[in-house]
Amino acid sequence: MRELMRQLLWLPPQASTFAWPVDRLHYFVITVTMVASILTGLLAFYFFFKYRARRADQSTPLVLPSVKFEIAVIGVPLFFFLLWFVQGFQDYIWYTTPPKNTMDVYVMAKKWMWKFAYAEGGPNAIGTLHVPANRPVRLLMTSRDVLHSFYVPDFRIKQDVLPGRYTETWFEATKPGRYQIFCAEYCGTWHSQMWGEVVVMSGQDFDTWMVEQKAGLAERVDTGGDDGGNMRGSIVEYGKKIAMSEGCLRCHSLDGQPHIGPTWLDLYQRRETLENGESIIADEAYLTDSMIDPRGKVVKGFKPVMPTYKGRLAAPEAAALVEFIKSLRSTSLENLPSKEATYEPAKPSQPTQRR
Ligand code: CUA
Repeated sequence: MRELMRQLLWLPPQASTFAWPVDRLHYFVITVTMVASILTGLLAFYFFFKYRARRADQSTPLVLPSVKFEIAVIGVPLFFFLLWFVQGFQDYIWYTTPPKNTMDVYVMAKKWMWKFAYAEGGPNAIGTLHVPANRPVRLLMTSRDVLHSFYVPDFRIKQDVLPGRYTETWFEATKPGRYQIFCAEYCGTWHSQMWGEVVVMSGQDFDTWMVEQKAGLAERVDTGGDDGGNMRGSIVEYGKKIAMSEGCLRCHSLDGQPHIGPTWLDLYQRRETLENGESIIADEAYLTDSMIDPRGKVVKGFKPVMPTYKGRLAAPEAAALVEFIKSLRSTSLENLPSKEATYEPAKPSQPTQRR
């Protein structure tokens, strides 16, 4: 039944844990609506004959349906719509909440290609994403230029990818194989050819592959060039380089000492209170936002003195910085809020007044 429906609806194979629940709801909705529309059509056809005009001067009698009938007409569709809503909402929560133990991969979209970088070091690739089967994978995605949308039909995932912002999606592939990636947001001339491929390997194959890739990377020389070339080697190391060259470390310490800005040690996932009293968790999205719009959400106790890095940091550089920050973990189990800044804006020297 499951397979028959899939073929009837011309759906792609079901290759992730999301696929069946998505399809199941789809089948349910489409079956009920098909049955209802066929019944309505047949009934209309029947009435067409039953109530046809028999005489020229025939008038339509007044029809008053019973209350029970009215309740049924409203209640039955309402019941189904609510049922679909509840099912759909539960599934939606699941699709949008990555589990804790995901393998993270950074995805950078640009006209007209997909670039991938592994958070824990590893190869960077254009167009091909290698992932293990039966392990949750989280994609942290951003765009260098315009809106794109990361779409893998076989996994039933689709997520917009935006410039200047991180969006995330996750999936757990179930079968080793090769699966097509499409761009599902019109992004210019070659939008229709902005393809990529997810290569799903068995867990063991993937681990072996990763070890081999890392061994290869160690020998490879940094070729410089565009951002793709720069990202060879460990993404964390790359982030450290950027932190030094962009001057981040002049205001952010790495050892827990408060400075002009909050320390980066244990910053990731730290709960911070903002100036306006709001409380946030310093996740990937917040860290990236703070590079682009540093004065938008300032941590309480600090001055809004950081310049914006919008246009100065390419998306992969921002990603590398985030990974670098994430790597700075002390042994403390708790992420305590940032202490106050040790920064006193220099007072304008005032001429001493004498009489
Ligand atoms: Cu990228 Cu369409």
